[in-house]
Amino acid sequence: MKQADDYQELLGRIAADVAPLIGSGTPAEYIPALASVDPRRFGMAIADLDGTVYGVGDWRLPFSAQSITKVFALALALSLDGDALWERVGREPSGNPFNSLVQLEYENGIPRNPFINAGALVVTDRLQTLTGDASSDLLEFLRAESGNPDLAFDQEVADSEGENGDRNAALAHFMASYGNIANPVPILLDHYFWQCSIRASCADLALAARFLARHGLRADGSRLLSRSEAKQVNAVMMTCGTYDAAGEFAYRVGLPGKSGVGGGIVAVVPGRCTLCVWSPGLDRRGNSVAGVAALDRFTTLTGLSVF
Ligand code: DON
Repeated sequence: MKQADDYQELLGRIAADVAPLIGSGTPAEYIPALASVDPRRFGMAIADLDGTVYGVGDWRLPFSAQSITKVFALALALSLDGDALWERVGREPSGNPFNSLVQLEYENGIPRNPFINAGALVVTDRLQTLTGDASSDLLEFLRAESGNPDLAFDQEVADSEGENGDRNAALAHFMASYGNIANPVPILLDHYFWQCSIRASCADLALAARFLARHGLRADGSRLLSRSEAKQVNAVMMTCGTYDAAGEFAYRVGLPGKSGVGGGIVAVVPGRCTLCVWSPGLDRRGNSVAGVAALDRFTTLTGLSVF
């Protein structure tokens, strides 16, 4: 059987296997635009290294990428800043919820990792300093790698994030008090909220993440990250990409992965393919219930985990 048929058949089987879970969990409720999404949505896409995409369900429907964008922001910042970035943000799992404040004071304003909100704010701050327009730079990158020029910010979501953004503002101001934020906090927060608001489909995000499976090579063959940096980003996704559930995610899925409260999860099989799954119902740690189950089925059925 050709690989295309394999992937298509596999996706059909995974969708059938997780069907009883679709609709369980709770969509993110902290902003109206996320709370109103149909909880019964489910889509999944697999992108080959050469850019062929296979999908099932709502795999072409755009959703709010939210924290999935943190992977792309990290990759861009690392490509421009190199190891200097790691002086401002760590790379250890936090064991705390994604928006937690508690470790920051003990650790002198240096966030544990780039995927909790505090760490992502530092990365966006650095990207803003290096590019002058962090969120537009990120959007352009996602458009280029997905081949979809229609990817866009969702102004309603971005505005709503701002109106409900006290905790992110607190994180940013607190880190600024330690000298770990260089840009004015209101400007940083705008870029961070725009970044989180980007709408993209499973197909778009699986395609855009391919540089992580291609050891740092972009869609056009140019190099974004060194092989070693691509390994580093994948490693941080594995250990920190699903927050205080990263151990469980590694146990069940065994792949580098990054979730968002929009219900999406991107995962990487280095040297082989990328995946994106979306279903809005979240577990109590903010990860898609059906999404984690679908990735669990993928690695169980194919043996394609990194272990
Ligand atoms: O900053 C926030 O809290 C949200 N805009 C993004 C959070 C998110 O997606 C965390 N992921 N699970």
